[in-house]
Amino acid sequence: METLLVTGGAGFIGSNFVHFVRNHHPDTKLVVLDALTYAGNLSNIASLLRPAYSSSDKRVEFIHGSINDVELVDSIVQKVDAVVHFAAESHNDKAIVSPDIFFETNVMGTLTLLKAAQRYDVRFHHISTDEVYGDTDINSQELFTEDSPYKPSSPYAASKAASDHMVRAWTRTYGLKATISNCSNNFGAYQHIEKFIPRAITNALCGIPIKLYGDGLAMRDWIHVEDQCRAIWEILHNGRIGQTYLVSAQCVVNNKTVIDILCDIMRTQFDCDPCIQYVRDRAGADRRYALNPQKIRQELGWKPEHTQFSRELESVVRWYSSNEDWWKSEKSRVEEQYQILGQ
Ligand code: NAD
Ligand code: DAU
Repeated sequence: METLLVTGGAGFIGSNFVHFVRNHHPDTKLVVLDALTYAGNLSNIASLLRPAYSSSDKRVEFIHGSINDVELVDSIVQKVDAVVHFAAESHNDKAIVSPDIFFETNVMGTLTLLKAAQRYDVRFHHISTDEVYGDTDINSQELFTEDSPYKPSSPYAASKAASDHMVRAWTRTYGLKATISNCSNNFGAYQHIEKFIPRAITNALCGIPIKLYGDGLAMRDWIHVEDQCRAIWEILHNGRIGQTYLVSAQCVVNNKTVIDILCDIMRTQFDCDPCIQYVRDRAGADRRYALNPQKIRQELGWKPEHTQFSRELESVVRWYSSNEDWWKSEKSRVEEQYQILGQ
């Protein structure tokens, strides 16, 4: 039986990956290591956790701890077959005001994991972002490929770029059996309400204006989180060692259009009457991301399944609307922090 260490498995994508593996590959054993920062929520995977008194090895084991804890990481990595590395500080607005923790976690935490994986010759899959390639103009048709130059614009993207370079260096220098995936913007259940789509939905549900940064015309390349999880599984099991794969559903849409779709859904189906407020943009804001997923499609036969963007958004609105317990207690704290930023 294969055992995977899932770092950051109580966060948005990590917890969706844990559910994906349980649902589709139930013979795989999962060990989740998560520090439960403000972005981690154990309730995301609580229903899957092995009861303390159970001897079953078919469930999910949770370890509360940091990827920066050298001894803890060493003791876990030596017992697993592969590391699937999600754990990170992930929010751009936060990185602009408090960058240090992004480098501690995303760079130094990754270093700790890489050294342990090297020590025990453990397969390593690193989850990264399209933001490492920088942005393009909103009128551009350019698609980033695996060969595009690294050009991160933000502290968050710079920290992720550094971690990607480290993974490549470990493969070349120490022969680490590693792969990297750089994915576009994910959406779906369990995404923290600081992020664009869940923030807009929960603002509307609370009667707070939806906030659009700048001119609202920045574009993102949206992918449903379940498609990203399936891509990660494919790369982990069938990807070529030392390779990078770009993951995208090629749904490049500007922020105002996303909000127009959400408002329409909320007015017609959720008895809400949202309004929109334009607020100041991020410092150095990226304008457009767009990836070319040709390589993963051709080599691994992966393709997105959740391709009806409006229909998928509708189900995400339904999720936040019926899971208020999951986000309501955080709402005022998140909005107070945005208020300080003028956003
Ligand atoms: P998230 O912020 O929702 O979750 C991050 C998780 O990591 C949390 O559970 C948190 O508690 C945990 N964590 C943070 N520091 C830790 C530490 N020191 N030790 C152990 N755990 C720690 O993030 P997400 O959106 O799920 O992103 C997951 C990964 O995917 C990140 O590496 C991110 O860069 C990458 N990514 C995200 C997106 C996206 O659209 N969300 C797109 C591409 C790539
Ligand atoms: O591209 C992949 C990246 O996507 C991941 O690497 C990051 O971890 C993830 O957070 C996400 O980064 P973004 O900065 O693109 O996502 P965010 O949801 O913060 O913002 C998306 C866009 O929406 C961006 O143009 C800023 C804008 N925005 C954001 C918020 C929170 C708004 O207009 N209003 C808002 O309230």
